[in-house]
Amino acid sequence: MKILVVGSGGREHAIIRKLKQSPKAEKIYCCPGNGGISADAQCVDIKAMDIEGVVNFSKENAIDLVVVAPDDPLAAGMVDALNKEGIMTFGPTKDAAQIEASKVFSKNLMKEFNIPTASYEVFDDPAKALSYIEEKNEYPVVIKADGLALGKGVIIAANHEEAKEGLHEIMEEKVFGTSGNHVVVEEFLTGPEVSVLAFVDGKTVVPMVSSMDHKRALDGDKGLNTGGMGTVAPNPFYTKEVAQECMDKIFKPTVAAMQKLGRPFKGCLYFGLMLTPKGPYVIEYNSRFGDPETQVVLELLDSDLVEIMEAVYNGTLTEDMVHFSDEKAACVIIASGGYPKSYRKGLPISGLDAQGQRDGVSIYHSGTKLSDGVYYNNGGRVLGVTARADSLQAALDKAYENVDAISFEDCFSRRDIGKRALSALK
Ligand code: AMP
Ligand code: GLY
Repeated sequence: MKILVVGSGGREHAIIRKLKQSPKAEKIYCCPGNGGISADAQCVDIKAMDIEGVVNFSKENAIDLVVVAPDDPLAAGMVDALNKEGIMTFGPTKDAAQIEASKVFSKNLMKEFNIPTASYEVFDDPAKALSYIEEKNEYPVVIKADGLALGKGVIIAANHEEAKEGLHEIMEEKVFGTSGNHVVVEEFLTGPEVSVLAFVDGKTVVPMVSSMDHKRALDGDKGLNTGGMGTVAPNPFYTKEVAQECMDKIFKPTVAAMQKLGRPFKGCLYFGLMLTPKGPYVIEYNSRFGDPETQVVLELLDSDLVEIMEAVYNGTLTEDMVHFSDEKAACVIIASGGYPKSYRKGLPISGLDAQGQRDGVSIYHSGTKLSDGVYYNNGGRVLGVTARADSLQAALDKAYENVDAISFEDCFSRRDIGKRALSALK
């Protein structure tokens, strides 16, 4: 099969390296890809949001399967456009991608179908939102922009002043554009967070191994929110009992609800969960693989990803098609100094071989450029150093040993990835 993966980050690199292991994969392309991805796929200079470009390329090159990985082309209907041409895809249609693209849609869905989530109200008027918050007078309070906001549209306001400022930024200054036309104001929940990615074929849901993201830029969960600075899998807080409860109260009801609403979901559905004292709650849904969750999850997948993706498209997915190793995996992100704010690009990276890899680990490139045989940083998150081993501690040791052997000017990593997970294992 000829396969095209749309996107350019570490998640896409991990998807490509897993697809490549399938005997069915004859040739893999990536639009637009990056320096490190070019060692594993043919990169084509078409932007991830260029629907017409991707459709035309797929037709001209007789592509058999297109994997649309990022949220914005999914929300913009890339899958619909490809399916119209009879091209097999992995990823939800525009209607189904609303589960991530609109928090108002997803919150209303959870309320209607009794899926546990923080209690909330929706507002389109900042004054009304503020008087609701003042009346409740319970802090912290969570304010979320309705639409896609690169994972940054969530404000946890510790007091009245912060809530007022947050509403002003989102709804009046429109720092997230039209995503801020509506906001969700919701109850603040506490408990360990778990990411569960699941394959969904419209009606059947098969969860993958659980994982834990580390969203803040600095050690001890300090600093700004990022796209994710590292992950471990499995997540030790996610026990068998919790998994069963999630299956019954969250996963199956969500998939059935989407079907009932005439928006059957096909692709990877990401459940962002919080294990509260009252049981597992949904914090958010994503309509796609997470980044950097994918790096650890697919690292542990023992099954043929091409076959799974075909079954998802054809509606023939079964549990026995999806097997995970019993090993543990850890991914540590090496980022550019200054990320998630401004940073320099074009700095040469030392410590990588010609393929952009190192022996014994998988290095998923998030933002690199290859020029004359040298890899340069070309984004905020640059590399995801990913290791697997029999224990989480051994996987982390192996990942950090390799992180320490790679460098470029001003690069940084969190030094405490997996620390909370390890403490849960003790
Ligand atoms: P989201 O973009 O919805 O995943 O939110 C980003 C992060 O904000 C989450 O990973 C949580 O850590 C935090 N968060 C979101 N909603 C809540 C909530 N209701 N209570 C506590 N923390 C939350
Ligand atoms: N790592 C969080 C996300 O992909 O949204």
